[in-house]
Amino acid sequence: MAVKTAIITGASSGIGRASAIALSEAGWNVVLIARRVNELRETQQLCKRPDRDPLVLPGDVTDEEFVVKSFQLAFSTFGRIDLLFNNAGISPGANPIEYTSLEEFRQVLDVNLVGPFLCTREAVKIFKGQQPAGGRIINNGSLSAHVPRPHSVPYSTTKHAILGLTKCTALDGRSNNITCTQIDIGNAESAMTGKFDAGALQPDGRLIPEPRMNVQHVANTVVHIASLPNDVTMLEVNIIGYAIRRTRIKSRLTLEISIKYMVYRHGKIKRNIGQV
Ligand SMILES: NC(=O)c1ccc[n+]([C@@H]2O[C@H](COP(=O)([O-])OP(=O)(O)OC[C@H]3O[C@@H](n4cnc5c(N)ncnc54)[C@H](OP(=O)(O)O)[C@@H]3O)[C@@H](O)[C@H]2O)c1
Repeated sequence: MAVKTAIITGASSGIGRASAIALSEAGWNVVLIARRVNELRETQQLCKRPDRDPLVLPGDVTDEEFVVKSFQLAFSTFGRIDLLFNNAGISPGANPIEYTSLEEFRQVLDVNLVGPFLCTREAVKIFKGQQPAGGRIINNGSLSAHVPRPHSVPYSTTKHAILGLTKCTALDGRSNNITCTQIDIGNAESAMTGKFDAGALQPDGRLIPEPRMNVQHVANTVVHIASLPNDVTMLEVNIIGYAIRRTRIKSRLTLEISIKYMVYRHGKIKRNIGQV
């Protein structure tokens, strides 16, 4: 059977890296996209080579020219694209809307929504044009696509919007053998969720450490979805770190410390905006 090819965005770390490795171990050729070249090369080293070397394409998913050229190069290298995992994303952390700049909002919108739009568009062009036509897209949503965290307007807005992109892609793709799945994850271990060790902000103002599962469980789920034939789909899948972490209800003093920590973080977030 011909070796299938997957494009994974955000393959330089976390879920994207783990999924690229798992797909390559399952016999897929992989195309690795993200901005950090050294980290992408590390992922490349960790991937198997079922057919050809993993193709490393360093760049920004918000850059239209980069995305168009990358998909063309992936197609001309492997002759066919079977899967796009729209995984690249950023989460700037809790920030009340009154402190959220338009720049911050647009940045999250660009990476988490415009990027998947551009990649989906280029993938669909290839899926429709190749013989036999078809392909699969997996969008990395979040539980925040359904239930927002406090003070997460940019992130939760984009993740809710991804659900629309998923449903439209699945509906419009059906007649061309194109499927689209959204995977909604509740806390896998990655750089993005490392900050939850100090506690994630809850609606009542408390910071509570939340369970995080090994990222491998997400990668295995991606491989399972990817392995389905294109006449079968899973529209929405959620996977959740389920272990309960015991915490004591915080006293008034620790609550005040939590709030001070939040204020401190707001300052940091405003200074660090632009970094992942
Ligand atoms: N971890 C969780 O529990 C969890 C839960 C729900 C949803 N998610 C979603 O899972 C996805 C991956 O997150 P993660 O947890 O694996 O965090 P991560 O380790 O921080 O991974 C984020 C990835 O996105 C890439 N990226 C960011 N901006 C990019 C851009 N402009 N162009 C290209 N690549 C870009 C990063 O690579 P570069 O910095 O090298 O560009 C990195 O590889 C995100 O969409 C996130 O919203 C994660």
